[in-house]
Amino acid sequence: MGIAQLRREYNLTGLRRRDLETDPIRQFQAWFEQASDSRRSGRFQKFFVNLYKSFLGLAGAAPIDVNAMTLATADKEGRPSARIVLLKGVDERGFVFYTNYDSRKGHELTENPQAALVFYWPALERQVCIAGEVSKLPRAESEAYFRSRPRGARIGAWASKQSDVLPDRAALEETWRKLETQYPGDDVPIPPYWGGYVLTPNRIEFWQGRPNRLHDRFRYSKSPDGTWQIERLSP
Ligand SMILES: Cc1cc2nc3c(=O)[nH]c(=O)nc-3n(C[C@H](O)[C@H](O)[C@H](O)COP(=O)(O)O)c2cc1C
Repeated sequence: MGIAQLRREYNLTGLRRRDLETDPIRQFQAWFEQASDSRRSGRFQKFFVNLYKSFLGLAGAAPIDVNAMTLATADKEGRPSARIVLLKGVDERGFVFYTNYDSRKGHELTENPQAALVFYWPALERQVCIAGEVSKLPRAESEAYFRSRPRGARIGAWASKQSDVLPDRAALEETWRKLETQYPGDDVPIPPYWGGYVLTPNRIEFWQGRPNRLHDRFRYSKSPDGTWQIERLSP
């Protein structure tokens, strides 16, 4: 089948104005919870999926990469770049992710803190698009999260000069081996160039797929007084 012939109808459910929370962070949390649970929908499917998962020791696991999101940044000339990162927290401040501050995205965020995030949960036929300003997390918070990562990932953060050119894979593995010897125990400190960001949203859109491409879209926009205005958008 050709790429142009790939298509699907979206007909799972609708989104109504009265279904929406007044606060978009709460609305996001509700949708995130449903996306985390979405593999367990349907009674029979649920029974067999849970049986299979308990067999694999995966009972209660969320769908793979439910917290994966596209992060779009732009340099000071407005040239965009985008990549996937993992959401590691969401609260009244906004959306938290961790990365290398010296990576391409890190440099772009220093030049231009405006960024956007996109989540797509195909099983629920839902998309969430977020825009706002990014700032670094308090250092203590990044340190606490870094300490919670597996040792291999902590050493990996030291081994990778993220987004720099490498001569070959062997060079990366050699660096990793040296660092493994340098940090033999569990005490791997956080690299100074590694940490978290929080994107504070000023716009969040919730998209629910509907038949005939007549999708439901609601946009929350932050007013100067801090309240959120909700509008339905044309699909
Ligand atoms: C599923 C998935 C999750 C990822 N999570 C992260 C992450 O949380 N942080 C991160 O820095 N890179 C993550 N990456 C790698 C980024 O997509 C990207 O390659 C890297 O951050 C360098 O991007 P940059 O050169 O645009 O700065 C992830 C990639 C995938 C596919």
